[in-house]
Amino acid sequence: MSINSEKDLESLRKIGQIVARCLQHMQSKLEPGITTAELDSIGGKFLELHGARSAPQLTYNFPGYTCISVNEEAAHGIPGSKVLKGGDLVNIDVSAELNGFFADTGGSAIIPPESKLHLQICEVAKKALERAMLEATAGARLNRIGYAIEKEAKRHGFTVIENLGSHGVGRALHEEPSFIPGYFDKRDKRILREGQVITIEPFISSGAYEVYDNGDGWTLITDPGVFTAQYEHTMCYHSRQTSGNDFSWFLISICIFTLIRH
Ligand code: CO
Ligand code: CO
Repeated sequence: MSINSEKDLESLRKIGQIVARCLQHMQSKLEPGITTAELDSIGGKFLELHGARSAPQLTYNFPGYTCISVNEEAAHGIPGSKVLKGGDLVNIDVSAELNGFFADTGGSAIIPPESKLHLQICEVAKKALERAMLEATAGARLNRIGYAIEKEAKRHGFTVIENLGSHGVGRALHEEPSFIPGYFDKRDKRILREGQVITIEPFISSGAYEVYDNGDGWTLITDPGVFTAQYEHTMCYHSRQTSGNDFSWFLISICIFTLIRH
């Protein structure tokens, strides 16, 4: 969607804060011994308490409130009886709806002790998200996002998962612009428009270029021994001059509503 009014922005901000707080709350419960189903039910209760509905459940009948992907699982992991342990790389993705507005956030975390490789992938994925936000400027092509993500990954000897991407969001979990790749696609001529609401979510991997279905119909995995980290925010692009400063993004899925200076 594109934001046309303060009211739209306010509605998005509400659900953005709920998903951001939900993710933080779930991450604070990460410890050896907890199952992914227990973690998911903590997230589900949080959403319910705030009047929000799980977007993957609502949209795709996903068998969980949130997606929890562990180690070789890169995305869309189904919460279940898996017991988390020290050294696990855990990605939690929370998306939800409130009053017809959707926001989507996600993040990877490591249960101590952290391996050097896991720490590195997480750092590079966070950096890739920041760089993508800086690269996508007024009227720029959407492919600047993939350009920035791929560049950051390559700089550190990592790869980008090519069949997962960022996307439009707001009135639905996934909407136009659909599939914004995490790599540079020079044929992609789409332009980032004023007021457009999108996610940016780099998937940085220690060696894989693709994820595939593990057979359960949802969970997307890479080969054994290969790890992927993802960080995701919902944001709204705008180029308003605010007291002399050019702020280019409203960061929506964060606890404190922020303007990101370009
Ligand atoms: Co997400
Ligand atoms: Co998303």
